[in-house]
Amino acid sequence: MSEPVDRKELQAALAKFGQEHLLAFWDELDAAGQTQLAAQIRGIDLELVDSLFRGDVDQPDWAELSRRATPPPAMRLAERQAGKASALGITPNEATERGQQALAAGEIGVLLVAGGQGSRLGFEKPKSLYPIGPLSHATLLQIHVEKALAVAARYGTAMPLYLMTSPATHDDTAAFLAEHDNLGMPADDLVVFCQGTMPAVDATTGKLLLSAKDSLFLSPDGHGGTVAALAGSGAIDHMRSRGVKHLFYLQVDNPLAPIGDAEFIGYHLLADSELTSLTVAKQEAHDKLGNFAMVDDRLQVIEYSDFPADVAERRDSSGNLAFWAGSVAIHMFSVAFLEKSLTLKDSLPFHVAKKKVPFINAQGERIEPTETNALKFERFIFDLLPQAARPIVVEYAEEEVFAPLKNAPGAPKDTPEYVQRFMLQQHHRWLAAAGAEISPGVAVEISPLWALDAVGVAERVSVNDKFDEPRYLAPS
Ligand code: UD1
Repeated sequence: MSEPVDRKELQAALAKFGQEHLLAFWDELDAAGQTQLAAQIRGIDLELVDSLFRGDVDQPDWAELSRRATPPPAMRLAERQAGKASALGITPNEATERGQQALAAGEIGVLLVAGGQGSRLGFEKPKSLYPIGPLSHATLLQIHVEKALAVAARYGTAMPLYLMTSPATHDDTAAFLAEHDNLGMPADDLVVFCQGTMPAVDATTGKLLLSAKDSLFLSPDGHGGTVAALAGSGAIDHMRSRGVKHLFYLQVDNPLAPIGDAEFIGYHLLADSELTSLTVAKQEAHDKLGNFAMVDDRLQVIEYSDFPADVAERRDSSGNLAFWAGSVAIHMFSVAFLEKSLTLKDSLPFHVAKKKVPFINAQGERIEPTETNALKFERFIFDLLPQAARPIVVEYAEEEVFAPLKNAPGAPKDTPEYVQRFMLQQHHRWLAAAGAEISPGVAVEISPLWALDAVGVAERVSVNDKFDEPRYLAPS
C-alpha cells in the first residue's frame, strides 16, 4: 500500500532539485531495496546539497586567508624542555600538577575518532582494527584502549572512552569489541557512537550519485560530524553524568598519541582554554599536516590541501619555515565548549573535495572513473578553533607523539613499517633512559598496560636489566 505513496512523495521532493534520476531503477527494486533507498533519500538535506554544489553556502577562501595569515603563538618545545614558563606564565611543572589533579578527579575523558576504513592501506576493514603492534600485532584500537585503562589505573579513577565509528566501520568495530570483551574496558566507561554521512554529487551536473540501484553513494560526514553525533547519541549526557569536563581528542591512526598526558591537559586547564591543540614542527613545507595559523587574531587550522604552496614555503629571517606548526589532530576540548558549539547553527563549514567516486550510470552500469568525477562534502572538527576562547598550541617532539598509519607499504612515510619503527624506537628510548641494556637490533615492544610512558618504564625496569632477544612486555 505504502509503496506508490512513497514513490510519489520522493519524486516530488527530488524534482525540486532535479534529482529524480535516483528513482530510475525503482520498479526493479524489491521491497527492501525500495525501503532502503527511500530512507537514504529522506535522510538527506537536499537543499543543503544543492547549495553546496552551487557554491551558495559560504565557503571560506582558504588561499586568501592563508596569504594574510601569520604564524601562531605557541608554547615551544625548547622552552618546555628547559622548564621555562610559557608566555602565559605557566611552567611545565605547574601544568603537570594541574593535569594530574584533573585526571585524579576523573574529569578527563577520551574522544577517539575511528570512522575511517583502511582502504588506503589495502586493508578492507576499519583502520582501527589494523594489527599494528610490531611484535604483539595489537590493533590500533587495542593500543588506545590500553592507554586509557593505564591512565585510569595510574590515577585510581576511570577514564571514559567515547569511540566514534561511521556506518562503514561501526558493525565490524562493535563485533571486534564484543569478541574481545571490550578490550578490558568496563562497559560503563565505553560509549560507542556512529557519525553521520553525506552523499556525493557529480562534479559537473550536481546530480547525486548512486552506488547501487537501491543505494546512494554515502560517505562519512568528516570528523566535524563528531559534535552532532556526540549529542545525538547521548554521549554528552554520559559525560555530564560522569563529571567528565574535558576530552582528550585523537584520531585512531596514531598509536603514539599521548593519551592522558598530564602536562598537556594542565596547560589547557591553567590557560582556561576551550580548545588546546598539540603541534609538532613540520619537517618539510609540504608535509601533509594541517597548519596552525592566526587569521584576524583568531587561531585556525588550514588544511594542507587548502594551503597555497608559496605560503607553505615561506621562511622567517632565520631561514626556518614561517608556518612551522603542524597539526597532529590531538586536542583538548572543554565539554561545555562542544555543547555551546551545538547551539551555533552552521558553526562548521563544509569543505568540498573533488574525488574519484564509482557510480551507477543511467543505463544501470557500474562506472569506475579514472579521473576525479565527484564532489564530496566534509566537516572538520578543527574548524571550531576560531570560535574557541583562549585557544592555545603546545609543541611536542614528533617522535614522542606522532606516527600516523596512512599509507600502504612502499610509500615514503606513514606506512605500517614506519609506524612500527617509531613505536619500537620510543620504547627503546624509554628502556634505555631507565638504564636497561638492549642488544643492538633487538625489538622490544611495551604494552601500555605494562608501562604507559617513560615514567612507567622507569618504575618497572632496573638499571642493567638486559634485553637480548625480542620481547613484548605485557602484564602476564
Ligand atoms: C588529518 C587532518 C590533518 C592532520 C592529519 C594528522 C583532516 C581533514 N586533516 O589528515 O589536518 O594534520 O590528519 O594525521 O582531518 N575520520 C573519521 N571520520 C571522518 C573522517 C575522518 O573518523 O569522516 C578519522 C579517520 O578515522 C582518520 C582520521 O580521522 O583516522 C584522519 O582522517 P584522514 O582523512 O586520514 O585525514 P588526513 O588527510 O590524514
